[in-house]
Amino acid sequence: MAVTQSVTKRFGILTAGGDCPGLNAAIRGICRAAHDRYDMEIVGIADGFRGLIDDDTRILKPEDFSGILTLGGTILGSSREKPFGGTTSSDKDDVDSEKVTAIVDTYSRLGLDCLVVLGGNGTNTTGSKLSREGLNVIGLPKTIDNDIVGTDRTFGFHSALGICTEAIDRLHSTAESHSRVIVLEVMGNKAGWLALHSGIAGGGDVILLPEIPYDIKHIARHLEKRGKSGKTFSIVVAAEGAMSIKESEMDKKDRKKHRQEMGPSAAYRIAREIQEETGMETRAVVLGYMQRGGTPSSSDRVLATCLGTAAVDLLAKGKYGRMVALIGNDVGSIDLSVPEGKIKNVPSDHYMVDAARAVGTCMGID
Ligand code: F6P
Repeated sequence: MAVTQSVTKRFGILTAGGDCPGLNAAIRGICRAAHDRYDMEIVGIADGFRGLIDDDTRILKPEDFSGILTLGGTILGSSREKPFGGTTSSDKDDVDSEKVTAIVDTYSRLGLDCLVVLGGNGTNTTGSKLSREGLNVIGLPKTIDNDIVGTDRTFGFHSALGICTEAIDRLHSTAESHSRVIVLEVMGNKAGWLALHSGIAGGGDVILLPEIPYDIKHIARHLEKRGKSGKTFSIVVAAEGAMSIKESEMDKKDRKKHRQEMGPSAAYRIAREIQEETGMETRAVVLGYMQRGGTPSSSDRVLATCLGTAAVDLLAKGKYGRMVALIGNDVGSIDLSVPEGKIKNVPSDHYMVDAARAVGTCMGID
């Protein structure tokens, strides 16, 4: 294939934050297009921003990014290293200037024209801040949480959704056999997209999101009504960040204390509240890291590949300071500052919330 001219000759690539299915598909998409179309040199950076701080890098050759399309995790490794501190604008800024300097130094010593960062809110926020330090940065939106402002979907989400939905399907038969309520906790600390989508897809009887604080009495009435109509079991799908109205009115410190007293995580707290309120036998299931592991869905493979190759088009043109995004049915890009410090939450009047209610699902409150 003829090599096309490119502004970018050499770039670094890293994956940061919680891993997700599709990261390797994106790495492959980026590296193949960069190598085959433009003959760019690719520097792989280990373990997110930590690799830049510790100067842990290696040149990536075609054999490094071959055969990884279907592989879960990330061949580059990841970490939650955040040299600028918190992710959202409400988080405390805690800049570690030594780390930021180390990153800038490694970038220039390696002679990079650009740094490509694959990550969630924290990673793209860090990328945007590094742009202001003078680095050329391009971001890709990955996370099972689907909560990045500026893109209609993140890769990783669709794979995790399949795992959550299968879990709900499987829990139905055991809940029914034992006439139990089962509370399934899925990931999503600040945004409830995974709980909302999987709750609808799996036919959850109750769906609890961080964005809609719940009233336990309302949930209890809903479950009792189901019981009276002959349904002796129920499935509650709760985001890990789901909270009661009472908790939502507490300050951070009191909420932390209350939560520690009530159980190790949302599913346990909610299961306990339901059992106390209704007397129904209730169990808690935490899906945890199962949601982030394993091979990506076909949809995530396609999205990761298309976003990856779109990022390379930006590299070739020297269009830095952008995050590639799915916008409607098209792949495009937005200014990297757009998602900075933000989280895309589920609006309480979202059409999916309405659809869930329309099919009789309790959303924790009227
Ligand atoms: O990947 C995002 C996420 O899945 C969040 O939903 C969750 O709160 C977090 O990761 C937990 O990940 P870790 O334990 O790796 O920090």
